[in-house]
Amino acid sequence: MERSLVLIKPDAVERNLIGSIIQVYEDSGLKVIDIRIEQITEEFAKLHYKEHEGKSFFESLIKYITRSPLVAMVLEGENAIEVIRHVNGATDPNKAEEGTIRRLFALNKSENSVHASDSIESAKREINIWFPNL
Ligand code: CMP
Repeated sequence: MERSLVLIKPDAVERNLIGSIIQVYEDSGLKVIDIRIEQITEEFAKLHYKEHEGKSFFESLIKYITRSPLVAMVLEGENAIEVIRHVNGATDPNKAEEGTIRRLFALNKSENSVHASDSIESAKREINIWFPNL
């Protein structure tokens, strides 16, 4: 069993898509282990996205992810990290496969509705900062 940190980002929460997005994960066999809604601080956003520090889109990414509440959750399942990455689809919704969350709901490459850990190592780091009691 694997776990991944998943965020339903501000653009999706603003458009009342929490339930629709969780449905896609549950239909893919994943289980919600923990969940909360929260508007994060700039400091916490910079910690979460620290591997993107210095990139051209970093400042706008921090503004976007802190602008309104997001949903943070831990999903569990067989090969959860790979399954979730497939279900989410490509970062750019125009390149995401039909039926994926980003193809269905994302607005563009930055306001792309969901985030998920991209490896076992990043899942450990992200779960630890978002849900230290797990
Ligand atoms: P996420 O999977 O959360 O990881 C980093 C985020 O940065 C990404 O989703 C997008 O929201 C954003 N992002 C990645 N690449 C770009 C880009 N080229 N331009 C703008 N935003 C981006």
